[in-house]
Amino acid sequence: MSTSAKDRIIIFDTTLRDGEQSPGCSMYLEEKLRMAELLDRMGVDVIEAGFPIASQGDFESVNEVAKLVKNAAVAGLCRAKTADIEAAAEALKPAKRRRIHTFISTSPLHMKHKLQMPPEDVLDAVTQSVTTARKFTDDVEWSAEDATRTEDDFLCRCVEAAIKAGATTINIPDTVGYTVPEDYAAIFTMLLARVPDIDKAILSVHCHNDLGLAVANSMAGIKAGARQAECTINGIGERAGNAAMEEMVMAMRTRPDAYPFETGIDTTMIMSASRTLSRITGFAVQPNKAIVGANAFAHESGIHQDGMLKHAQTYEIMTPDSVGLQKSEIVLGKHSGRHALRKKLEDLGYNLGENAFQDAFKRFKDLADNKKNVFDEDIIALLGDDRNENERIKFVSLTVSAGSQGQSATLSLEIDGMVRQADSSGNGPVDAIFNAIRILFPHEASLPLYQVHAVTGGTDAQAEVTVRLEEKGLMAMGQSADVDTMVASCRAYIYALNKLLRKQKRTANEVGP
Ligand code: KIV
Ligand code: ZN
Repeated sequence: MSTSAKDRIIIFDTTLRDGEQSPGCSMYLEEKLRMAELLDRMGVDVIEAGFPIASQGDFESVNEVAKLVKNAAVAGLCRAKTADIEAAAEALKPAKRRRIHTFISTSPLHMKHKLQMPPEDVLDAVTQSVTTARKFTDDVEWSAEDATRTEDDFLCRCVEAAIKAGATTINIPDTVGYTVPEDYAAIFTMLLARVPDIDKAILSVHCHNDLGLAVANSMAGIKAGARQAECTINGIGERAGNAAMEEMVMAMRTRPDAYPFETGIDTTMIMSASRTLSRITGFAVQPNKAIVGANAFAHESGIHQDGMLKHAQTYEIMTPDSVGLQKSEIVLGKHSGRHALRKKLEDLGYNLGENAFQDAFKRFKDLADNKKNVFDEDIIALLGDDRNENERIKFVSLTVSAGSQGQSATLSLEIDGMVRQADSSGNGPVDAIFNAIRILFPHEASLPLYQVHAVTGGTDAQAEVTVRLEEKGLMAMGQSADVDTMVASCRAYIYALNKLLRKQKRTANEVGP
């Protein structure tokens, strides 16, 4: 640990890599760029943009993120293989600050069954991979995959080898979410005491949430001497997810007595980052999720409301403003112009380019024609509803007939450039719509999740629909919002289907970490 970085925690965001690896969370290039721009603006120190060797799409994403990001270092993940490292170095070339992140498993279980390599060969691979990575950049991170189930002596030898070969950050992942705070802290204490030249590298925490302990474990690691925290927005990530950035950052901000550390994160951008990611991935945030859940700052019980009215701190340990949750006085309507929308977007933490803004303005006007008051949540829902131009299936129009006499749908879609129409019936209007989609574009995917919720109050509220499709182990989420629940349902399904098709195409050539 370098003494100059003593109390500053480096925030390493892996939403675009570990987060994107989680089922149903894949993102289009444009979506990754939108997230990367936001993460950069909110003060993330390192953005892990992907795993360049995994696929052409991943390579391109890392490369485009590297071109876009202004302040943060951009990291690319690679196994301990020369081809991986060369691909990462190439993808990261345009970055102002580039980091190569190389990893190999060090636990007996992983070495024997996954790598099928003896420990001495793994140790050689550590030296070789870090040495190779250092040819391309001075900023090299080495990770001991499954570190928390690794024998202490072997972990020390690997960390020593990595530092000797030039690694500047040493990451200790709890890959399977197995550790507990005391044990995790003890690993850092042990490394700091035993590994020669440990002060030449920054130690890093990287925790998965299988036991719901990812943030607690990460904070314990930081208290024990780690100075980099790896995390994701909304805690998305493999299986139960990664440590949630917003939870760690707000814990440090709210409890400096327990966690006397600072980060470079502008916490007022937390809500906007959370919502943007949720819209992009179609992964709704659970209402009682810490910091960013819809109920995190809501008070319903009479006693709590009474206390809040007398003094907000009676039941609130953080202010809504501190995470960017403003109860805005300005409600937009159909007479609001570009200027008002631009101002509202700025207040909500969005910084749209000219084309995206014009597009948002048009959709805002369409919405305002159908809805008296357009609330902040409506605007955010509307922004999330932009779609990729290269999608195979595009929504054209929908007419639905519903009621006690039966339900039917007439749907037009543009499929690979050709507009086609189908009529269908079903057990309810939504079923009729989804049947029409299957007629126009036959596919086998099952529908394990269909969820609707009202974005704001009132009978003219936008309905936000989430759809999850699954086929042969692949999963894709789609989300859409519209004042018409049927239109939102149809669009959400199409969005999920497009994502599934893209995933199926890409899976054939993929390499997993
Ligand atoms: O969880 C893990 O071990 C990882 C590594 C690849 C860093 O994500
Ligand atoms: Zn991980």
